[in-house]
Amino acid sequence: MSNGLLKGKRGIIFGALDENSIAWKVAERVYEEGGRFVLTNAPIALRMGAINQLSEKCEAPLIPADATNNEDLNNLFIESVDKLGGKLDFVLHSIGMSPNVRKNKHYTDLNHEWYHKTLDVSAMSFHRVLTAAWKNDSMNDWGSMLALTYIAAQRVFPDYNDMADAKSMLESIARSFGYHYGKEKKVRVNTISQSPTPTTAGKGVKGFDQFIAYADQISPMGNADATACADYCVAMFSDLTRYITMQNLFHDGGFSSTGVSAEVLDKM
Ligand SMILES: NC(=O)c1ccc[n+]([C@@H]2O[C@H](COP(=O)([O-])OP(=O)(O)OC[C@H]3O[C@@H](n4cnc5c(N)ncnc54)[C@H](O)[C@@H]3O)[C@@H](O)[C@H]2O)c1
Repeated sequence: MSNGLLKGKRGIIFGALDENSIAWKVAERVYEEGGRFVLTNAPIALRMGAINQLSEKCEAPLIPADATNNEDLNNLFIESVDKLGGKLDFVLHSIGMSPNVRKNKHYTDLNHEWYHKTLDVSAMSFHRVLTAAWKNDSMNDWGSMLALTYIAAQRVFPDYNDMADAKSMLESIARSFGYHYGKEKKVRVNTISQSPTPTTAGKGVKGFDQFIAYADQISPMGNADATACADYCVAMFSDLTRYITMQNLFHDGGFSSTGVSAEVLDKM
């Protein structure tokens, strides 16, 4: 299905690791809609190799960049504008990682060095990306920059651990930088708060299977999957959403507005 919504648009997609990644589905849908882009990930993730298939399929150059490294990000934006033949219209930040979650550290006993790492990789990296694009004047007017987040930024999901703090910060960065991008460059900056989705990062959260089943039963429409999230990203990159900015947009089948559902009550 293509409506040519992104025909002539250029961008960068961060975070496609394997075919389950949300960024992978976004890349496929953006390509279908006529968008052209550079794919990027941390050098170590690129070495795993799966992304080469996606790069071929979408005719997308691959440029490694560690999202916690300003020099990598500056190079990425300069090279992307060069390779794609002009300034950019969209950026997807689809990056998350917590050493504390990986190593099963409880929230009351966090390793604070790792906590720094969680915040840097999962939140401050968005500030770094927005800064690199700003300083290199890489975005076209009416461009769109998006990051993916989760409702643990607003409500407690205990096993989401320090990632909850990172997501709160990420959403705040979208608002704060969105103000300046709106004023100076007519570029919008938003976060999409996605349903739990079975990906490498998602499945790393303790109790993920129960977590996803619970969300599915609370949400009147059920969980939104990665393909539906990709559709929403396409809409947010298109010219149909030009005045939406500094928002956290729930894409969750109604989960965020529901207190309890008949299915969950029946289990009590
Ligand atoms: N899966 C879910 O349930 C869910 C729900 C809501 C939001 N999200 C968010 O969606 C985004 C994408 O996650 P996903 O679920 O597709 O998982 P994923 O594991 O496929 O993607 C995470 C990506 O982050 C990249 N990354 C990690 N460290 C990096 C660094 N230093 N520099 C550059 N890239 C780095 C990884 O290589 C990987 O490609 C994340 O922000 C995640 O928090 C996921």
